[in-house]
Amino acid sequence: MSQTYPVNAEFSEKAYLNESQYFEMYQRSINDNEAFWAEQGKRVDWIKPFTQVKDVSYARDDLHIKWYYDGTLNVAANCIDRHLADKADQTAIIWEGDDPSISKNITYQELYDEVCRFSNVLKKLGVEKGDRVTLYMPMIPEAAYAMLACARIGAVHSVVFGGFSADALAGRITDCESKLVITADYSLRGGKKIPLKQNVDAASEKEGVKDYLESVLVIRNSGDEVDWNSTQDYWYHELAKDVSADCPAEEMNAEDPLFILYTSGSTGQPKGVLHTSGGYLVYASLTHQYVFDYHPGDIYWCTADVGWITGHSYIVYGPLANGATTLMFEGVPNYPDSSRFWQVCDKHKVNTCYTAPTAIRALMREGNELVKSTSRQSLTLLGSVGEPINPEAWQWYYDVVGEQRCPIVDTWWQTETGGILISPLPGATPLKPGSASRPLFGIQPALVDGEGNELEGAVDGNLIMRDSWPGQMRTVYGDHQRFIDTYFSTFEGSYFTGDGARRDEDNYYWITGRVDDVLNISGHRMGTAEIESALVAHHLVAEAAVVGYPHDIKGQGIYTFVTLNAGVESSEALEKELVQWVRKEIGPIATPDIIQFAPGLPKTRSGKIMRRILRKIAENEFSNLGDISTLAEPAVVDDLINNRKSQE
Ligand code: PRX
Repeated sequence: MSQTYPVNAEFSEKAYLNESQYFEMYQRSINDNEAFWAEQGKRVDWIKPFTQVKDVSYARDDLHIKWYYDGTLNVAANCIDRHLADKADQTAIIWEGDDPSISKNITYQELYDEVCRFSNVLKKLGVEKGDRVTLYMPMIPEAAYAMLACARIGAVHSVVFGGFSADALAGRITDCESKLVITADYSLRGGKKIPLKQNVDAASEKEGVKDYLESVLVIRNSGDEVDWNSTQDYWYHELAKDVSADCPAEEMNAEDPLFILYTSGSTGQPKGVLHTSGGYLVYASLTHQYVFDYHPGDIYWCTADVGWITGHSYIVYGPLANGATTLMFEGVPNYPDSSRFWQVCDKHKVNTCYTAPTAIRALMREGNELVKSTSRQSLTLLGSVGEPINPEAWQWYYDVVGEQRCPIVDTWWQTETGGILISPLPGATPLKPGSASRPLFGIQPALVDGEGNELEGAVDGNLIMRDSWPGQMRTVYGDHQRFIDTYFSTFEGSYFTGDGARRDEDNYYWITGRVDDVLNISGHRMGTAEIESALVAHHLVAEAAVVGYPHDIKGQGIYTFVTLNAGVESSEALEKELVQWVRKEIGPIATPDIIQFAPGLPKTRSGKIMRRILRKIAENEFSNLGDISTLAEPAVVDDLINNRKSQE
């Protein structure tokens, strides 16, 4: 059992909550749930105040989730306008470019002007309340302006991570019927250019896209040449020249959609997770304040990309709702070298650094010297998100980066949850390396066995949530039944997270990882089904099965078993071709680490692939294959074992 670190007394002195205050507030949030959330609802400014707090049913035949649902507000006005009275000249966003010599500070007044201008450009292009707008953007301030501009005029944004392929982008444009895509000429990461506009051009040629897509709004970022389609493409800087820096904020109902974000599940294509306005903002603001113990004047940095939920809730909406100074970083951790994160901390006097275990592991591998070449004296708090952090990485982060001075908040949550559900509070929670620890306010986690029976005490089980919280997703865009089937059918009456967890004798939660067919590659979710369907779309592939295996840096790697069509010879060239194929179909984050050609896959007599066996083979655990007597052809297992490939 690893060691427990007591609460940092110095931190706790200045923190909003100490341990007993956490327990007191948590108990109140459970015992007097609606009163608690009514009080928290006041952290945002309402145009028409809510009188109703919560209307939630997790029943399969009447599933609905509503918070603050007779109130009206505007999310962008909450993130900007209301701070102008006392923070107009305070920096809202510090932007640090990929090139270390480039950065800029954007004040709340400047943010207001930019977002209003952006809103007016969107209106010029015919975007109206309720329209969906797809963003495919680099990590530049315009990404935040575009999100907030959508929120200001009541349009629904769908941000697609800039590392996804043209095909993946096309699928996401058509699914939510976007009439506009906002992009840039190129994005810059680690000195390399990624042709975003070119990918949008390729996406707009895909089937069905032109049925919805009317215009492409392009930010000039790198300044390099791009192909131009004069009937569809618009330069942002040209349209922005003659628009006003004022734009009224649309009055939105609390339950009006704010954004859609696509995420991978265990079956089918990625689903559009829908978040609404009022509850989402209350929850993002609450969790940002307490988990990061954010106080006015602090410099806060979340290293995520705005293409993921972490970027939405903890770069843009949570921090800006709280009037914070939030840092946005265009680059990567190892460019120009692996001290970049800590250089950025020193340059901007960052107090809180919130990053992912995969980055920590990659930097840890580069040794301590690069870290020690920087000061990091401004840092007071460290955070982790996206996947379980292994105790070794936690320890390195704590000892070397934070010099044992900074508490670490290991925050567990999901795209679906909108904000953090389980995490230490830095002034209140003793830390155990590798544990996300305790639930936040209003959150009621429980562990159940496969039949849904609740498990008590220190035990392992499936992680569910008993009750709703305001930041919870409301539906799968365009497919409410899929929402019900995915999250509320496995364990009736509860939200199923898809994760397994262990609870220890101190009631701390230890997330053990996904219990479904979802992989977590460098903290990014990827459905095995998506990679399989990409592979079988190749004309030489008959069948494919994908499983995860432990990977030193990425947490999980992608192991693929591929059966070729009869008569097709396997070769190294074909292996490379298939890797490129998947990258083209989905994007670089889905790059298979290992491809093993297999003449047959282990199947039950009814034809179902036995992934359990494939997982064991990928994990190199041959002695523990379990019962294989039910297989149609047990001999294929020997072949798979004999030809197993190992990580290079
Ligand atoms: O398996 C859990 C893992 O990431 C999944 C959610 O992925 P996504 O929706 O992409 O959101 C990532 C950022 C919130 C979860 O189901 N996960 C996330 N944070 C942690 C984690 N696993 C363990 N510890 C965490 N702190």
